[in-house]
Amino acid sequence: MHIIKLNATDSTNTYLKELLLHTNTKDFTVVVAKKQTKGRGQMGTNWISEDGKNLTFSVLRKKVGLDVSRQFELNMKVSLAIFESLKWLNIPDLSIKWPNDILSANQKICGILIENILLGSKIQSSVIGIGINVNQLRFGDLPKVTSLKSITGIEYNLDEVLQIILSKLAVNLKHFDVALCKDLSLAYQRQLFRINKPSTFKDMKGNTFMGLIKGVSQEGKLQLLLEDEIMKEFALKEIQLLY
Ligand code: BTN
Repeated sequence: MHIIKLNATDSTNTYLKELLLHTNTKDFTVVVAKKQTKGRGQMGTNWISEDGKNLTFSVLRKKVGLDVSRQFELNMKVSLAIFESLKWLNIPDLSIKWPNDILSANQKICGILIENILLGSKIQSSVIGIGINVNQLRFGDLPKVTSLKSITGIEYNLDEVLQIILSKLAVNLKHFDVALCKDLSLAYQRQLFRINKPSTFKDMKGNTFMGLIKGVSQEGKLQLLLEDEIMKEFALKEIQLLY
């Protein structure tokens, strides 16, 4: 893997997308920054991270070739690679909160922002942005957030943690199967936060309701068992898990 280390940039995802646009960027190019001035999160949010304390990086995967309807497979592969890396580092109580936050107990350690470049209905390239809270200890008034050091008391070497994650990503993203591999979604669902536990959700209108997470559909929709035994699927922007 070719790693580009930056002291500062607006967002490693933006930097890598620009690079891809203007140069012949190699597959598996990685951009890692000590500081992001405009770190971006899911659904237009900001990703805030103390300078030099955490990992904020993006990985380019070229020639993905998957139909856009299968984009959730990428989320699953990336989430599992990070889950496995953190497990290897003995971080306790890990789970994947749909669609792709990694938690320890009920606190977030990692966020993922995947941006796909499409050619027609096919994913040509993916920019996989990953933010992991590593050595930061104070998070101000950010709720339900933690870091590896807050959990274990260990000061981590950022390059070593990065290498572990990149190796797992290289394995998980090596190839894409012609059809969805059942093992992949089973492995993902096995680690889902609050699976089969009664949980409270909020819909787009602000209404709260109870449901049981039963799994995730092929398209990446969350499958909930609602009251009256009704099964319903929800897309990313339609629902929020209150926890
Ligand atoms: C989220 O949980 O909302 C996703 C957060 C993704 C943050 C990472 S940090 C590296 C990369 N560059 C960005 O601007 N965002 C992602």
